[in-house]
Amino acid sequence: MNRRTLGRTGLQVSEVGYGAWGIGAKQWIGASDEESLRALRRAIDLGLNFIDTALAYGDGHSEKIVGQTVRGRRDQVYVATKIPPKNRRWPAERQIPVEQAYTADYVVSCTEESLRNLGTETIDLQQLHVWTDEFVGAGDWMAGIDRLKQQGKIRHFGISLGEHTPENGLRAVESGLVDTVQVIYNIFDQSPEDQLFPLCRKKNVGVLARVPFDEGGLTGKVTPQTEFPKEDFRNNYFKGNRKQEVYVRVEKIAADLQISLDQLPETALRFTLTHPAVSTVIPGMRSVKNAEANCRAGDGKGLSPAEISKLRPHRWIRNYYR
Ligand SMILES: NC(=O)c1ccc[n+]([C@@H]2O[C@H](COP(=O)([O-])OP(=O)(O)OC[C@H]3O[C@@H](n4cnc5c(N)ncnc54)[C@H](OP(=O)(O)O)[C@@H]3O)[C@@H](O)[C@H]2O)c1
Repeated sequence: MNRRTLGRTGLQVSEVGYGAWGIGAKQWIGASDEESLRALRRAIDLGLNFIDTALAYGDGHSEKIVGQTVRGRRDQVYVATKIPPKNRRWPAERQIPVEQAYTADYVVSCTEESLRNLGTETIDLQQLHVWTDEFVGAGDWMAGIDRLKQQGKIRHFGISLGEHTPENGLRAVESGLVDTVQVIYNIFDQSPEDQLFPLCRKKNVGVLARVPFDEGGLTGKVTPQTEFPKEDFRNNYFKGNRKQEVYVRVEKIAADLQISLDQLPETALRFTLTHPAVSTVIPGMRSVKNAEANCRAGDGKGLSPAEISKLRPHRWIRNYYR
């Protein structure tokens, strides 16, 4: 597994990291803790050393599984987590007082809860789970982050940007407040390349590329016939004719690249890793089979310029989270 430097944190992180939303097993139905643990352990055995979880994923369940996995292996694996907004509203609403989302005391108490869930003394990367650039310089939340750093409870600080709005993080990067940003970046949503990635490179800010498979759409496994359980978040994400809409596009991508649909997940990961601003890509993968397949993409081989140009016209930004 190849490693890259996570911006100014200096951490050497595996090109493929672990997205731990699904293993929270609340908004994603169908995860079994035993298989999640096996998948995580297998990924680490294959050289993965970066895990992205959040206090909100299964209300601490994902953090507990991650904690169980990394106990005794803390020197081998970096853990990133996130602080949910106080008002539990995703994405961050613009023009609300920042205190409704984050305050100093609140970021400290959430971090302490995450430390208990993880069973560790320190969090390598703590992130705000929602962001709008209006938070720069507003309220007292940053004093809480500074306090956590001084106490050694967190090592580095980053933000997770809202869906399909990478430009609403430019001020944060420019201001020097953040060590990392997490952003949706995949074959469909290529927009972080426009302004965010060049700025991150200039400011030496690490980039976590999230949702590389468009929540499953870019794996080619979501077909018009796929049914998700009613409580599964993807039942809404892929509602109406969206599965059909995505599948038609995915078939076109495979045809343009002259690959089979089975090769699409690997291509989707390699697409993200071809951009030099990306430090690590964090696919969700709840099975050993998917963990093994995805770790193979972290061998340092990006897509060729010819393949990248064939993927350019497949840029397609829409918001299925609504
Ligand atoms: N606001 C935020 O901060 C935010 C929002 C969303 C996501 N994230 C982070 O980003 C991570 C990644 O996003 P995501 O998990 O939502 O979606 P994703 O990575 O785009 O897609 C995950 C889906 O792809 C499937 N998959 C994985 N590897 C595969 C393979 N090799 N072949 C076929 N299918 C495969 C997974 O199946 P299985 O699950 O069955 O393995 C799952 O259904 C999250 O886990 C989380 O850490 C953060």
